[in-house]
Amino acid sequence: MTRWANVIGTGGYLPESIRSNRDLSQMVDTTDEWIYERTGIKNRHIAADHETASSMAEIAARQAIEMANIDPQQIDLIIVATGTPDRVYPSTACLLQQRLGVRNCVGFDIQAACSGSVFGLSIADQYIRTGFAKTVLIVGTEICSRIIDWSDRSTCILFGDGAGAVLLSASEQPGILATHIHSDGGYEDLLYCPNPQAAAAAGQNEAGHIHMRGNEVFKVAVNTLGRIVDETLEANDLQQSDIDWLVPHQANTRIIAATAKKLGMDMEQVILTLENQGNTSSASVLLAFNEGIRDGRILRGHTVLMEAFGAGFTWGSALLKY
Ligand code: UT7
Repeated sequence: MTRWANVIGTGGYLPESIRSNRDLSQMVDTTDEWIYERTGIKNRHIAADHETASSMAEIAARQAIEMANIDPQQIDLIIVATGTPDRVYPSTACLLQQRLGVRNCVGFDIQAACSGSVFGLSIADQYIRTGFAKTVLIVGTEICSRIIDWSDRSTCILFGDGAGAVLLSASEQPGILATHIHSDGGYEDLLYCPNPQAAAAAGQNEAGHIHMRGNEVFKVAVNTLGRIVDETLEANDLQQSDIDWLVPHQANTRIIAATAKKLGMDMEQVILTLENQGNTSSASVLLAFNEGIRDGRILRGHTVLMEAFGAGFTWGSALLKY
């Protein structure tokens, strides 16, 4: 008997403070028009000083637990995807476990940059299929604003802060149908964030800021996401028309539109959060999924394709029946 990973709850958190394109145009040489035309972004949320990846994760996780209406003690695995952990260790997953007061579970972080949520879903799916775990909490949580060079107009306009969560439970009914994940370290120089301590030890003076060769990343992202769509449809014997919703990583509307076109979808079938959230890295797919479910667009029985692309490069898809 197949054990499927079913979605039983979702949650999302965005910090209160909003930074608009107009705000950014006071900080660097840019305009609202340029940013919106090239990216689709108008606003992004910025965490307050007291907030951390784990504090935001807790709010998103508690929403998912409430929606699922379960006792948090049932959670037996917590996976947190983040590139901006509170501490090098303990893992943000352990900090979240403590915040939630969940005792009998295991927690660990994963680092797959913007693909973190999709990688997390893939890992959780394997653990549920093998019977190792029954109830799994996955959270993507990022304070990108703390690793941005706010004087670099090519990156500071793109990113925002937030956390997205999903709770999965073992079931005999179909849930996650398949995941496909990949990485290729050959592209490390196109998108990276140095570890300043490690850099200093190696005699380099590098701040811990995001560096990106945006135009080159853009081209690889469009091609790679096109290939992951083909791979996912072929491997699961699906037609484009079998997919009800595309829930993409929110990096750039033009990249998302290219993926939707590849699926023969119009943009009404795409959950877009980019305009008012920017790119929240590993949180973006789960934030969009949560929004689509809570506003009633994604309904039980719908087939959802999630996809993401990020530093590494890492990329992947998660196909699920909600
Ligand atoms: O989430 C992980 C994956 N990340 C992505 O997928 C991001 C992929 N990349 C992108 O989304 C786009 O490449 C960007 C939005 C980052 C940039 O858009 P672009 O159309 O690729 O622009 P570009 O980098 O080729 O730059 C075009 C021009 C340049 O000026 P010149 O050399 O043509 O005179 C830039 O200096 O735009 C200039 N520019 C800006 N102008 C106004 C770059 N940033 C800005 C800015 N405001 N903020």
